[in-house]
Amino acid sequence: NYRSDLEDFLMLFGEEQTCLPSITQKFATEIDNFAVRNDDVIVASFPKAGTTWTQEMVWSIKNRANFEGASLNIYQRFPMLEACGLPSLLTTGEPFILNSLEYLGQIKGQRLIKTHLPFSLLPKDIQLQRKSPKIIYVVRNPKDVFISYFNHTRIIDGFKGNLEDFADLFLSDSVVFAPFWKHVFGFYNRKDLPNVLILKYEDMKKNLKSEIVRVSQFLEEKPLTDDELTLIGRRLDFNFMKNNPSVNHQCFSDEMKRKNHQLEGDFMKSGSVGGYKREMTDEMVQKFDRWIEENITDTELYEKYWF
Ligand code: A3P
Repeated sequence: NYRSDLEDFLMLFGEEQTCLPSITQKFATEIDNFAVRNDDVIVASFPKAGTTWTQEMVWSIKNRANFEGASLNIYQRFPMLEACGLPSLLTTGEPFILNSLEYLGQIKGQRLIKTHLPFSLLPKDIQLQRKSPKIIYVVRNPKDVFISYFNHTRIIDGFKGNLEDFADLFLSDSVVFAPFWKHVFGFYNRKDLPNVLILKYEDMKKNLKSEIVRVSQFLEEKPLTDDELTLIGRRLDFNFMKNNPSVNHQCFSDEMKRKNHQLEGDFMKSGSVGGYKREMTDEMVQKFDRWIEENITDTELYEKYWF
């Protein structure tokens, strides 16, 4: 059944009982002790909140719209901290997947790092404020995250359940990187720290350029010229990214095909705000709305447009 299929490869970690692939246990101490550097830039998020979009933005700003090195896969340009020992994803032996910690340790210049870990499981250097890398956390309407995650879980993990089944898992915090609200508030509640910036997917959709400028200021970059801003904006356009093999996760689809897994669709679906309305029943929406309401009432994260 759909629940036991998932539970088979998941374990609970830390005080917040975060759901992670069991293999992560082998690397837990290494992650704790990972040597963070003050000039690291970390893009953190709950999966499907717009992580890749933000990574491509940060990379483009850092490279000042010079895209010469951009054909390298985003996984290499912007490795994922906890991507260790996940050969089920890629079997071609890339070091940034097999042991991202080692791969990151060997990078000489400034490092751009992606993570889906909750704040409570980040390396000790960050927890204990021994280092203060810049951290950008991306938030998105949980219902759009849910639909996007359903698509992802079917493609990557071969999830066989239907949308109702996935809603059951999502709302009971039984998906990878859950519990959801602890994840969001673990970062959101630190939004006033000088090294933390919160980005919202919906703001990026509404006014991408001003979000690019905000991120570039946060990164303490020299102001972008109009040309640079325009070039970066083009690069971050949904259709451009959807057709760009270095960011559209095509490598996974190719791998799945090699393994003869049936692919159910694209990684980048519609990239829309409120797309959940097309897929969820009214009843399901109401259930989610109650859950959202319960968790954000009386917090500063009260987003009216989520409802
Ligand atoms: P959908 O599944 O709703 O299409 P992540 O990178 O965190 O996995 O997030 C993936 C989601 O971000 C997908 O949402 C994807 O389409 C969307 N996304 C990626 N690039 C985007 C862009 N340039 N513009 C808008 N949405 C984008």
